Order: sequence, then structure tokens, then C-alpha cells
Amino acid sequence: MKFFIDTANLDEIREANDLGILDGVTTNPSLMAKEGITGKENILKHYVDICNIVDGDVSAEVISTDFAGMIKEGEALADLHDNIVVKIPMIKDGIKAIKYFTDKGIKTNCTLVFSPGQALLAAKAGATYLSPFVGRLDDISSDGLSLIAEIRDIYDNYMFETQILAASVRHTMHVIDCAKIGADVMTGPLSSITGLLKHPLTDIGLEKFLADYAKGNS
Ligand code: G3P
Repeated sequence: MKFFIDTANLDEIREANDLGILDGVTTNPSLMAKEGITGKENILKHYVDICNIVDGDVSAEVISTDFAGMIKEGEALADLHDNIVVKIPMIKDGIKAIKYFTDKGIKTNCTLVFSPGQALLAAKAGATYLSPFVGRLDDISSDGLSLIAEIRDIYDNYMFETQILAASVRHTMHVIDCAKIGADVMTGPLSSITGLLKHPLTDIGLEKFLADYAKGNS
């Protein structure tokens, strides 16, 4: 299972990357705005800064909603760095754009996915990654993890190569449940990764080991 971090915060990206287990980064316009990164030039520079920290796929989202605009923007994004993945919304022109980029050998991440039918279309278009939003479905009393399981079944039935990138992951249990279901990738906040470290018995056990070592060496 690949671990991506879902943020545009460079300190958090560095911290996750320093763990040695980070496989990539996802961003979106909201995450950029949260870090105060605004304006086209600043946003493009920020993507390059992220690529210079992490040796893995970095999703950069287009803002256009029409085919021509997505192609122009996506090509400019892909030119920024070899690790850029063009993130495209699940809309009609988005599917056409994914097919276009697939044919050109440019990686894509189909975002804002909330149904198995959408997942099927994105895979048919050849998306590299598919981002179903787990947390946002949970937010409206729908079962985000069930969607991941349904898509896993569909993709396995036909051996689609599109990787299921469980997005809108909010906490450690989302990560663990996505791993049980077989999501190829998860993307979440730093806390959803570092939270996996925590267990009180680990802390108690380590404290005792160190105390016992100290007794024998004092
Ligand atoms: O990758 C999509 C993600 O950023 C959405 O997360 O927490 O805003 O639903 P959230």
C-alpha cells in the first residue's frame, strides 16, 4: 500500500518524508489556499518545491472545467517535473482529458469520485489513480469505505490497472480499513500517518526496557 500525504504544507511533507515511508503527495486548490499559496505562479512554484522534497508522485489539480482548458493546464503542470500527476475532476470533459493524457503517457488522478459508476468510467479512460473521497461520504451518513470495497471488486473483475487512491482519509482507522479492503494508495493528513505509531503498551514496554537497562548499568 502506498502512503501519500494530503497537504500543501511543506513542513508536514518534510516530516512525513523523513520517516522514509512516504510515496507521494496529493494537493488540491483548498489545501493550497489553506497554506496561503495563491496566484498561478506561486502555485506552480509550490508544486516544484514539493517535488524537490519527495521522490514520488505529486498530484497537481487543474482548475479548468472544459476539455481545452484542462489540456492546456495539465500539459503545463506535467512540464513542471517528471513526478507531477495531473489531477482532473470527475466530469464529462475530465474523462476526455484523462483519455487524452493517458494516450500521451502523462499520469492522471481522477478526483471527486463518489460512486462505482464514476470509478468504472475513469478506469476505462485509463486514469493512473482514482480518488474516491472516503471522509466526505462519511460526513453525509454514507459509507465511504463501502465505496472503496465496491470499486476494488469492480477493478479486480476486469484487472483494471487504475490504482485506487483512497482520498479524504481523516484518521488512522480509515487507513487501516482501506488497507484491509485493498486500496492501492491512501492519502491523508500527517496525523493519519503518525497516529499509526501510537500504542500505550509500546510506550510502557520501552520505558521498562530502558529502566531495566539503566539498573544493570548504574
Ligand atoms: O484528497 C482529497 C482530500 O483533500 C479531501 O479531503 O478532508 O477535505 O474531505 P477532505
